[in-house]
Amino acid sequence: MSTARTSNTYSAVGGIQHEEPLLFEHAHEAAEAISLPGVQGDISAELHAFSRQKPANIPGLSEPETVRHFVRMSQWNHGIETGFYPLGSCTMKYNPRVNEQVVRLSGLANIHPDQPIDSVQGVLALLYELQEWLCEIAGFSDVTLQPAAGAHGELAGLMMIRSCLDARGQQHRKKVLVPDSAHGTNPASAALCGMHCIELKSGADGRIDLDELKKHLDGDVAALMMTNPKTAGAFESDIKEICQLVHDAGGLVYGDGANLNALVGMARPGDMGIDCLHINVHKTFSTPHGGGGPGAGPVVVNDTLAPYLPVPRIVKEGENYRIETQEEQSCGTILGSIGQVGVLLRAHAYIAAFGRNHLHKIAQDAVLNANYVLHRLKDAYHVPFEGLCKHECLLTDEYQNKHGIKTLDVAKQLSDLGFHPMTVYFPLIVHGAMLIEPTETESKATLDSFCDAMLEIAAQCEAGDTQVLHDAPTKPIRRRLDETQAARKPVLVWSD
Ligand SMILES: Cc1ncc(COP(=O)(O)O)c(C=O)c1O
Repeated sequence: MSTARTSNTYSAVGGIQHEEPLLFEHAHEAAEAISLPGVQGDISAELHAFSRQKPANIPGLSEPETVRHFVRMSQWNHGIETGFYPLGSCTMKYNPRVNEQVVRLSGLANIHPDQPIDSVQGVLALLYELQEWLCEIAGFSDVTLQPAAGAHGELAGLMMIRSCLDARGQQHRKKVLVPDSAHGTNPASAALCGMHCIELKSGADGRIDLDELKKHLDGDVAALMMTNPKTAGAFESDIKEICQLVHDAGGLVYGDGANLNALVGMARPGDMGIDCLHINVHKTFSTPHGGGGPGAGPVVVNDTLAPYLPVPRIVKEGENYRIETQEEQSCGTILGSIGQVGVLLRAHAYIAAFGRNHLHKIAQDAVLNANYVLHRLKDAYHVPFEGLCKHECLLTDEYQNKHGIKTLDVAKQLSDLGFHPMTVYFPLIVHGAMLIEPTETESKATLDSFCDAMLEIAAQCEAGDTQVLHDAPTKPIRRRLDETQAARKPVLVWSD
């Protein structure tokens, strides 16, 4: 086996800071990291059909070498458990340890989807209770726990809207109105559902412009897909009128509830006129989020859309629970099982930890923390939209531009100062966006140290001390990557 690999081969494209020895380069064929128990008797005949024709192309490493390799690589990452992670829109919220303890209980961790239904009544009871809580929290009458992410929930919601319009004989309604501030998954989900997207230009305050909305409301509209609060931290103050206008035009309102953490326990989207809403449990209820999953994006619906919920569904009969796999008007199946049980149980644990009377603390603290950061940074960074924000605050690099410094430079310097950067260049409706979401889980001391770092960067700009910002980051294992190449052509394998 070739050992002539360089760390370059292993990396994504570009910018290597340290020539760290990458363990796979030191592979030696004699070593093996696996030790399997011996097999009694000769089973080679039965196994023959499955045996490899040539040796697997994996590096020869011992178990300690392998463990150290992966643990060391994990330490090169900035994670929510190693530092503050103020990523706007994507919400990296600390996952309380108690949630992890709950899901590791043997009765929850060691069950199988195909077990007899009477042996999993406990977990079904918890999931059913979660369904009831989600409906009550968001103000809807029914729910599906199936979707495996927020974007998957968007697809499920639009499939239900499609089924509903088809049942009304309105197959021609295919237009989905999506504000230009929307998360990229919104138009993607609409397109995947066979709909046709129309972009709504935001008003000067970043909210939906009623005149712009009215211009597009005609007999072809299937739905408006709207995020509230928006991905710039602003609340749609005309929400009731917006929903009414869409309904009057014969369309339905899809709510992107990814930002429910700003409202939970305080206000309910169902009361505002929204027909269905996905809930990113990783954003509102602290389930882990990263690496693409596993996640969960339950969708809550009102009476209009309830008949079209996907199957399978948990149904309660007397004191027992069963799984219904057939519903006459269902929009279909979007996941092989009832949902990502481990993720959903963590959400259940988080809600239970607050309890009905204290859930509003999530929203209050998330909004307070975002406004605290906004208040501390508003003189040093340009604030594109006036007023208080909800769960995240939006700044831009306008003041720094005159010193030749851009949002990307600020973000890279934050890495050197020990913080994960905020979300950069999103939402697209402002130039040089920096979207900061501190979440409710952070202390004032953490927020202060982050704001101090941001103010230090702004002061460096003002003092003309900008080389250090252009050079950043100098501390992480990688410096500036060619992000387009790294995203489009990542080198993910050790050997070719
Ligand atoms: C506003 C908004 N909508 C939708 C999504 C998609 O959610 P997911 O990443 O779970 O697919 C996100 C992601 O964070 C989001 O911020």
